[in-house]
Amino acid sequence: MDLSVDLAPRGKRSLTLANPVMTASGCFGNGLEFARIFDIQRLGGIASKGLTLRPRSGNAQLRVVETAGGMLNSIGLQNIGVEALIRDVAPIWEGWRVPVIVNIAGEAVEDYAELAARLDGVPGISGLELNISCPNVASGLEFGSEPAAAAEVTSAVLRQTTLPVLVKLTPNVTDIVPIARAVVEAGADALTVINTVSAMTIDAERRRPGLGWGSGGLSGPALKPIALRLVYRIAEANLGVPIIGCGGVSSGLDAIEYFMAGASAVQVGTATFLNPRAPLDVLEGIETWLRDHGIENLRDIIGTAQPLRLQAD
Ligand SMILES: Cc1cc2nc3c(=O)[nH]c(=O)nc-3n(C[C@H](O)[C@H](O)[C@H](O)COP(=O)(O)O)c2cc1C
Repeated sequence: MDLSVDLAPRGKRSLTLANPVMTASGCFGNGLEFARIFDIQRLGGIASKGLTLRPRSGNAQLRVVETAGGMLNSIGLQNIGVEALIRDVAPIWEGWRVPVIVNIAGEAVEDYAELAARLDGVPGISGLELNISCPNVASGLEFGSEPAAAAEVTSAVLRQTTLPVLVKLTPNVTDIVPIARAVVEAGADALTVINTVSAMTIDAERRRPGLGWGSGGLSGPALKPIALRLVYRIAEANLGVPIIGCGGVSSGLDAIEYFMAGASAVQVGTATFLNPRAPLDVLEGIETWLRDHGIENLRDIIGTAQPLRLQAD
């Protein structure tokens, strides 16, 4: 059975995953702890914890609360910073078979560009994923909420790196397709769809928002129908780059639905908090589903829920 997927078919460097199951950023740390729990080398890829230039300690507690069908977080990009990552973590990744894609974040275009420049050519790093759900200090809006800002950050990164570049889109916009189109025209190799949906809870006893930061990002099963639709819409726009579906994937069947909507790969996030082995369970579920349906090649189901005109392309 051929499960391999090329996430950068038009890139300067290829990014071939042995299978379409990745971990989602922020839900798998840098992979080091999970490596002690199961054979993470069987995964298709790992998206590391969001990385910034300088270390960050993150937002005030509470940073995670449960909601019906999902969870809400406002971690605030707690991370060790680029210097420690290159010094202490990348050398460990270098010994891994599974490709690691570093998720990067910043407050200004220059932050992303500098991160890309520093990570270029570092052994152990196979690609970059741009988290553009970050407030831009210049405009106060998220980079991912405006096509021009999203494209600018993508181009600035591509000028500094030969690594394949995935751009992770935010669902917190009126129309995601023009943003997807803008980053693809700017040179993005693939799109990760989606980051969390802005949301909040209220703690009635305290008469305050549940999260210390006030609002946060909704993830988990509640996200799946939202993300599926956005994957479907972007696939329908036929932008010519692979889509990585992300949002509420916890089983092989969830992943199959994303493939049918038009995704070439999936990321597993919140499910790992309940079951650390969830990404491998998803992979095994995909294999079982394909075998049960007599499908030898994953590519044969991608986009099959789309109208015939897309499948013919
Ligand atoms: C605790 C937590 C931390 C996250 N941190 C990041 C991050 O650093 N960078 C990023 O791009 N996405 C981050 N995300 C978003 C996830 O990667 C993913 O897009 C989202 O959770 C939807 O997938 P899921 O429903 O499978 O969790 C985080 C999500 C959670 C729950």
